[in-house]
Amino acid sequence: MAILATPKGQVEFLGPLIRESIEPLDMNKNLNNFRRASRQKEALLQVSDLPEGIVYVAKHANEIIGYVLFQHPSEFGRWNKHPRLLELGAIEISRDWKCMGIASKLLHEAFKNPELEEYIVITTEFYWHWDLEGSGLSVWQYQRMLKKLFGSVGFKRRHTDDPEILEHSANMLMVRFGKTITDVHLKAFEDLTYQASIFV
Ligand SMILES: CC(C)(COP(=O)(O)OP(=O)(O)OC[C@H]1O[C@@H](n2cnc3c(N)ncnc32)[C@H](O)[C@@H]1OP(=O)(O)O)[C@@H](O)C(=O)NCCC(=O)NCCS
Repeated sequence: MAILATPKGQVEFLGPLIRESIEPLDMNKNLNNFRRASRQKEALLQVSDLPEGIVYVAKHANEIIGYVLFQHPSEFGRWNKHPRLLELGAIEISRDWKCMGIASKLLHEAFKNPELEEYIVITTEFYWHWDLEGSGLSVWQYQRMLKKLFGSVGFKRRHTDDPEILEHSANMLMVRFGKTITDVHLKAFEDLTYQASIFV
């Protein structure tokens, strides 16, 4: 089990977790960037139940203070059509624990999981999900911060004609290719990034 010493005490990094390991843990009440903390805990449990769902948490004492989730992409978008693709659905660190290197360590721990090397992992970053107010960063500074954070575990920005990404120039698609991804799966991914060209 990995541990990080922070000015507020030791943080442990756990995963991949099953429902039974998540259930007894408390959820820090400020894990509310995407939804109320209680509902976010429910989302963690639901992802852990999915066949391809992967949950890693950062924990202090008995409390979850951060998490990162991986799952098969939603059936409504194009990415779901790829056979070896997972989406990093969310990463969040409680504002009580921000800027202590926890997100960075959590990602590094999660990507030690050899299972993730068998996937193309994407993150679709929409600026309306970002904590601009809490961070004090501008949209462009926040984008740079995320590019660096995800870049530290091998994600690279990719251009795409996905209409949701194109809705704002700060939005971005970032991709990490697992070490055992085949050329066939790479080609399938390339074909998905620009779909409009199929109809030209
Ligand atoms: C983005 C987020 C996960 C970062 O968590 P964190 O634990 O504070 O990040 P870390 O401490 O590991 O910092 C990672 C890097 O980002 C930088 N950073 C993070 N927050 C910052 C801030 N508010 N201002 C300036 N730099 C910041 C750190 O300095 C660090 O850079 P470095 O590697 O050069 O030292 C956290 O702010 C969060 O939960 N935000 C809300 C949800 C969100 O936006 N998720 C991402 C999209 S899914």
